[in-house]
Amino acid sequence: MSGRFITFEGIDGAGKSTHIEGLARLLRERGRTVTVTREPGGTPLAENLRGLVLHQAMDSLTEALLVFAARRDHLLHTILPALRRGEVVLCDRFTDSSFAYQGGGQGLDLEVLAVLERWVQGGWSADGTLLQPDLTLWFVLPPVTAAARLAQARSPDKFEAKGEAFFARVSEGFEQRAKAHAQRFRRIRADASREAVWAQVEQALLSHGRMA
Ligand code: TYD
Repeated sequence: MSGRFITFEGIDGAGKSTHIEGLARLLRERGRTVTVTREPGGTPLAENLRGLVLHQAMDSLTEALLVFAARRDHLLHTILPALRRGEVVLCDRFTDSSFAYQGGGQGLDLEVLAVLERWVQGGWSADGTLLQPDLTLWFVLPPVTAAARLAQARSPDKFEAKGEAFFARVSEGFEQRAKAHAQRFRRIRADASREAVWAQVEQALLSHGRMA
């Protein structure tokens, strides 16, 4: 596959959406074709599943099964075709969010998540490696700051409504994933001005090379 798969991660309220749009603009100016997408979502079926996951109460295993079902559809119909066409795919959240939210936040057994990850992201290459992002920009925000930002949100989804202790567990989940996948993770300090955050995004791309 000749494309590049870049994901954006972090607890809610970290402000990653603005920078996804900014990066898409920059890459397009440099002549790349860019697909911007999100999880859960990115296909009609996955967007329907998103509505359930974000707004219905359910146990953590049901939640994980739904986000990975959405991911499967998204991979098959959006992400893999774009990568095969040689595009840059910018995806707002991916499997690291499942480990952080369903694993860290909701306490689901990480081994269950690892099995789902193997099912959904395996089988694409002859050597058995899982499909993973080439680069993950992890927007890091203190949980107390995230909770304060989200308290001002007009209609929070069920995760955004949860508060500081939940975000602390989610952050710890991201921390563990970043350690296990250090080579693709870049840490972006999100408690700074928009300009300062953007500078880090540009730096992360440069340091990763190959991107633009
Ligand atoms: P988010 O990406 O923050 O979108 P918006 O900015 O529109 O609110 O919302 C998605 C929510 O879904 C977020 O709270 C994290 C959650 N989520 C999971 O719990 N597990 C997952 O695997 C993914 C991809 C997201």
